[in-house]
Amino acid sequence: MSNYHIKGLEEYFQVYRKSVDNPEQFWEEIAEENFVWRKRWDEVLKWNKESHKVKWFDGAKLNITENCIDRHLYTNPDKTAILFEPNDPDESAQHITYKELHERVCKFANVLKDKGVKKGDRVCIYLPMIPELAISLLACARIGAVHSVVFAGFSATALRTRINDASCKMVITSDGSYRGAKTIDLKPIVDEALLDTPSITSVLVVKRIRSSVKMVADRDYWLQPLLEQASTDCPATIMNAEDELFILYTSGSTGMPKGMVHTTGGYMVYAAYTFKNVFQYRDQDIYWCSADIGWITGHSYIVYGPLANGATTLMYEGVPTYPDWGRFWSIIEKHQVTQFYTAPTAIRALAKEKLDFVEKYDLSSLKILGTVGEPINEEAWHWYNDNIGKKKSPIVDTWWQTETGGIMISPIPYATPTIPTFATLPLPGIQPALMDENGEELKGNQVEGRLTIKHPWPSMARTIWGNHKRYVETYFSAYKDKYFTGDGALRDATGFYRITGRVDDVIIVSGHNLGTAPIEDAINEHPAVAESAIVGFPHDIKGNALYGYVILKETGEGRDHDNLRKEINQIITERVGPIAKLDKIQFTEGLPKTRSGKIMRRILRKIASGETSKLGDISTLLNPEVVEKIIDNTIKS
Ligand code: WTA
Repeated sequence: MSNYHIKGLEEYFQVYRKSVDNPEQFWEEIAEENFVWRKRWDEVLKWNKESHKVKWFDGAKLNITENCIDRHLYTNPDKTAILFEPNDPDESAQHITYKELHERVCKFANVLKDKGVKKGDRVCIYLPMIPELAISLLACARIGAVHSVVFAGFSATALRTRINDASCKMVITSDGSYRGAKTIDLKPIVDEALLDTPSITSVLVVKRIRSSVKMVADRDYWLQPLLEQASTDCPATIMNAEDELFILYTSGSTGMPKGMVHTTGGYMVYAAYTFKNVFQYRDQDIYWCSADIGWITGHSYIVYGPLANGATTLMYEGVPTYPDWGRFWSIIEKHQVTQFYTAPTAIRALAKEKLDFVEKYDLSSLKILGTVGEPINEEAWHWYNDNIGKKKSPIVDTWWQTETGGIMISPIPYATPTIPTFATLPLPGIQPALMDENGEELKGNQVEGRLTIKHPWPSMARTIWGNHKRYVETYFSAYKDKYFTGDGALRDATGFYRITGRVDDVIIVSGHNLGTAPIEDAINEHPAVAESAIVGFPHDIKGNALYGYVILKETGEGRDHDNLRKEINQIITERVGPIAKLDKIQFTEGLPKTRSGKIMRRILRKIASGETSKLGDISTLLNPEVVEKIIDNTIKS
């Protein structure tokens, strides 16, 4: 039996039991047998239940890039590490071998050093899905700089907020990006963001779309000429296991996005371990995760998890619809992809199109399919299973979060039975507990409650950058000694988990987590707006879409509502990004509020979803009369 690679259900149960009975011994063995350390840890786990500070493998020394790159140079230097498929199908794919990756990471790291980046400095990365994105993460990790990747679909304001929150020293960006038939200029967005970012001293610019961009003297540098002069020799900076590896922002129910901090040793162990098991990775596989590296899925399962296992990881630059709806399937055929990991929203969008787009391609190389990011509905699951997996490839419905660093609940293919809409069983080391409304743990099966995790795991986020208090309040104040996920879940009669969705004010739109507060703040900036509230409502493709209730300062005839709607979405695009645009905007005279003045989003959510018969008791509201008016004016389509 191998703890590192689980191959059957019996084995899973044995390994799981061991991981719960003695978590420290379990993780110690995994860490010892499968990774390269420069110095061994003094203690496997330090868990301070008062301060909520957790340390894994404390005292150990390592560099994650030695695990993701250097060690494979001895065994497999010519194996493809990153397989890059460009947006344009006529542009050749790039096969970047481990040897080449090593050289490119070392050169890039030397450029960072040359520009004054040191261990512990934060570097903001704002790049499209091109090889330089993965390479820049690794280059930071090589020298111990902390990367903070900001998804390149975010606006200048969102970028600036994140740069300032982490006091980043440098931004790495490109002139622009290709997305389907469109080209998008990125550098002007960075320039706008940098109008007020005192910590930034330099900007590295990758040439991709060859647009003409403005370069600021003594601040902006084209990357290519610097790389050409850089040495390929860059010894890895030796890090402590608990040194920060990266910050990644995620939306909260309220306030600023939270900069989740992930550290080096535990994150590496857990990302690699879960990649191996959830995707049953084997040497000859060609693994493809279609997420963007701007999200945690890309960090853990495009870059760190696959590379730590010496895998070939495919990176696709473009969109699923270009040049047509068959692009994903054509890529699978072209590169003989064995594992394909994507989001339910993409599956739903592709399932709406003619099957001809799928049937044109030979998908027989596929062995395992995965989904992540939001609950997958039964119809989409079956479409994926029947048409893509041809009923022979297990689907791993993987539940996890930016905060968890790695997959937490998921089937292990060929071991765990799969059931549509169920994430099934916790991975080794993960101890879920469902809680009732009174804060008691629900024991036994066939129960539904709030999902918490009882025991620390190696890749859990250690804190929120600069705000440990908020970390404790958000994740550890609801239930004593338990990490609260913000999700609801049920456990069925056999002990399998099904995630039922967020129980807070985070709304998942097309797999992107959106907090209500920054969007409402943006809307409220419009001079005509007095107050607003947004909620999610079910959407065929996006999973959820946004419904905005807006109170205007002056109502009355003559207001051009359509134009106002456009302006509101324009502000949201500028402040947050196009992903946060509202599908429906209803102008209203009032919002339902509690007597303490809190907006009752629960009621608005029900109305927006057409569930007006389930509003419950509204008589305790401050202003129950507005509810009727809101229902009457609901925007139907
Ligand atoms: C949701 C993405 C149901 C959940 C890795 C979680 C899911 C949030 C699933 C985290 C799944 C993720 N089934 N819901 N398989 N996977 N979620 O931080 O609500 O972008 O809390 O991390 O997505 O989203 P995040």
